Amino acid sequence: MARISGHISQKCLQLSGMGSEIRRVFQEGLDAKIANPNLDLIDLSLGNPDLEPPAEIAKSIQDILNDSNKGWHRYMDNSGFAFVREFLSKELSKSECVNVLPQQVFMTVGAAGAIQIAMRVLLDAGSEVVIFKPFFSEYAPYTAQFDAKAVYVECDENYLPQLESFEKALTTKTKLVMVNSPNNPSGVVYSKETLESIAEILRRHRKKTGNIVHILSDEPYARLIFPSTIPVPSLLQLYDAVWMVRSHSKDLGLAGERIGYLVWNEFLNVPETLAACRNAARAMGFVNAPALMQRVLPLVYGIKVDISEYEKRVNLFCEILRLGGIECPKPGAGFFVFPKVPVRFKGDDKLFCSSLLKAGVLAVPGSGFGVPGSIRCSLTQNIQRVEDAAKRIVRLIRV
Ligand SMILES: Cc1ncc(COP(=O)(O)O)c(C=O)c1O
Repeated sequence: MARISGHISQKCLQLSGMGSEIRRVFQEGLDAKIANPNLDLIDLSLGNPDLEPPAEIAKSIQDILNDSNKGWHRYMDNSGFAFVREFLSKELSKSECVNVLPQQVFMTVGAAGAIQIAMRVLLDAGSEVVIFKPFFSEYAPYTAQFDAKAVYVECDENYLPQLESFEKALTTKTKLVMVNSPNNPSGVVYSKETLESIAEILRRHRKKTGNIVHILSDEPYARLIFPSTIPVPSLLQLYDAVWMVRSHSKDLGLAGERIGYLVWNEFLNVPETLAACRNAARAMGFVNAPALMQRVLPLVYGIKVDISEYEKRVNLFCEILRLGGIECPKPGAGFFVFPKVPVRFKGDDKLFCSSLLKAGVLAVPGSGFGVPGSIRCSLTQNIQRVEDAAKRIVRLIRV
């Protein structure tokens, strides 16, 4: 039979061209390895957590599987198991210092699934979504999926949003603002003042135009904040129309197991919002979060991977680059660093990354995150490899 092609929809072709810089770089690394099998390449491209899940996870899974009660593996309420949502509502009420009812918690297929559900609930064709640079590159295809328009806002030299530009970017079509702190790619934790200013600008906009803009606070790195980072209040405390997204892809090293959740503020009509989320999950085909992983969560909630390991890597990497003359702001959380492109490369992030590839380091140009003056390095390699990568980068700019 003859091969069939040309069957991919226009929409799918449009989405596949968006936010693909990380995959492109990763593929470039694979191709370089094929061309030269002896190449010793340190891959800092993908944000794939390398620390194994804590031992308690495997133990909990075994205990759950040994439970002989029936019915645990069936379809369920799309929002998840009631006892898991109740557990999370109590924990979040304490940690976020707000009132969270179980009916405000919706279990999801990772943070990605939670973002998609919130967007499905909120966005119409033509709605505008404000995205602060630097941004998680998947926001572009997520937004385009709903025929909404991404409106990008520039950042300052500390990778925080330029607030004046933010205010000017708001229109009566603005429906959603994406806030991602701790941030991928920069690792920056937004300050309390920044979050308060974002909320204040949205309140001013509402007063002036009557338009209610929602905030989606995308927080998969929330539990990877370093102990030395100044604590910041939850956006749930600072603004009414807030949706908070969490997942355990990074803090429990469970990225492939796809477990996360969506929480909305009590000020959004709770039954109406819950019904809309149930329908969105159904229509998008996620239906419900994986049952086994939901049951694991209450058993391991207080546990996380050893963040001191990530912090050690970040400190060492930034210090070597700094001493080598490369500006490398120290992140407040996680395992991403976002050094600036050295002057020698005249701000050309792609040229810098292709020279790094030749020097044996795979990193992603910042233009993939809307900031071409920087590159993203994911420190998901052991500390010796991280040190080696930093030294290779410094050597490159010295020759
Ligand atoms: C900022 C941000 N949001 C969402 C996600 C998706 O996370 P998950 O794997 O939990 O779907 C990621 C993953 O890298 C991320 O960095």
